[in-house]
Amino acid sequence: MSSDSLIERAPTQDELDLLNYQSRIERPVRMKIPEMCHDEKLRHIIFSGQFSVDTLEDLASTADKIRALSRYRAGQNFLTNLLSHKRAMLYFTQPSTRTFLSFMAACQILGITCNEVRDPTTSSETKGETRLDSIRMFSSYFDLIIMRSKLARLAESCAYLMNDLEESGNRSVPIINAGSGADEHPTQSLLDIYTLQRSFQFTDPKDSPVSTRFEKLRKESPNLVKGLAHKVYGFCGDIGRGRTVRSLAGLLSNYEGVTLVFIAPNDPTLALRDDLRRRLTSRGVQIHEVESFEDRIEGTPVIEMLDALYMTRIQKEHNDPADEANFSELDLSRYKLTPELVARLKTYVPILHPFPRDQHFGEIPPEIDDDPRAMYFRQARNGMWIRAALLASVFGVEHQISRFFNDEMTTI
Ligand code: NCD
Repeated sequence: MSSDSLIERAPTQDELDLLNYQSRIERPVRMKIPEMCHDEKLRHIIFSGQFSVDTLEDLASTADKIRALSRYRAGQNFLTNLLSHKRAMLYFTQPSTRTFLSFMAACQILGITCNEVRDPTTSSETKGETRLDSIRMFSSYFDLIIMRSKLARLAESCAYLMNDLEESGNRSVPIINAGSGADEHPTQSLLDIYTLQRSFQFTDPKDSPVSTRFEKLRKESPNLVKGLAHKVYGFCGDIGRGRTVRSLAGLLSNYEGVTLVFIAPNDPTLALRDDLRRRLTSRGVQIHEVESFEDRIEGTPVIEMLDALYMTRIQKEHNDPADEANFSELDLSRYKLTPELVARLKTYVPILHPFPRDQHFGEIPPEIDDDPRAMYFRQARNGMWIRAALLASVFGVEHQISRFFNDEMTTI
């Protein structure tokens, strides 16, 4: 919220509440991360910057075990008893299908009971209740709050509220950010990373179009290695407003030798924002900003140099009248994938998209879905497993899952 907006009218209590946390919000992420932990373990999940490479590997390993256990009744029974004494509130006041359902399914896998508020007009916010009062009220009934809001920083403010409550000896529960404004979407970046991790193991045929051909592939691309490091990642479309792009690009900067190529119009709304550019370059990531897949980097067209491609939709619901006018001048067709472009991608390149895709714009036309490189539906399913792993970690039962997996998987 800009302070200018407060000059024109008296601020609401909601705005004052957020202002109250402003000085904490304005600190660099690395200073805030310790406050989101409990005894050095994840507690509130607010920024993708909270996940180190080790944490990402631990979560992926828990997710792999959960998905393997879920194939068997004995494994399912074990999992659904693990957290059957816990209750979660899904507070999703911004539209969502995937993230909402995937969190709900993740809760169900672990036996967590869920309740939801999706429409604030059905809550006491219409009677003048502030958002922070609503959150504190939810924390009286539930053991976890998973929230999505169009307000950037609301989830972060709620995490501070919970920390303050804990400090004053009151009940306090973990907050998970399931998307906050144009700001961050840390759990989407978890599933994106998990999908990339599985693709770049080149082992499971469903996860990687070249699972059995790694050695052959190495003959064609001698520098190809397993894992996320030393790869070129392309992000195409609405880079400026894509919170999933912000969160994933931040996480990829944890890996060595990574190059990020942003393929977006040269428009202040759609292009890479300054703060993210600064954050990435300060971490030593090599970045390139181009306007088309055909632009060349060191002589090679971008489409031919990528190791992974992350497509996004143009988020037109956020357009203001100036955007509408500016966008009509742009050739947005360049930000659509076509079968011809896919044919020029390397044979192993996973194509990701956070979804929903826009059928009217057509950034990924359905004829690409059958290409073995199209990972977006698997990516969504991976989201359910990695979110279950995250919930297990927040409630500290990941070691129980490992023990059961190691002891029982040989017998079931
Ligand atoms: C994205 C989001 O909401 O930020 N979707 C999602 O969570 N899977 C991206 C989008 O809406 O385009």
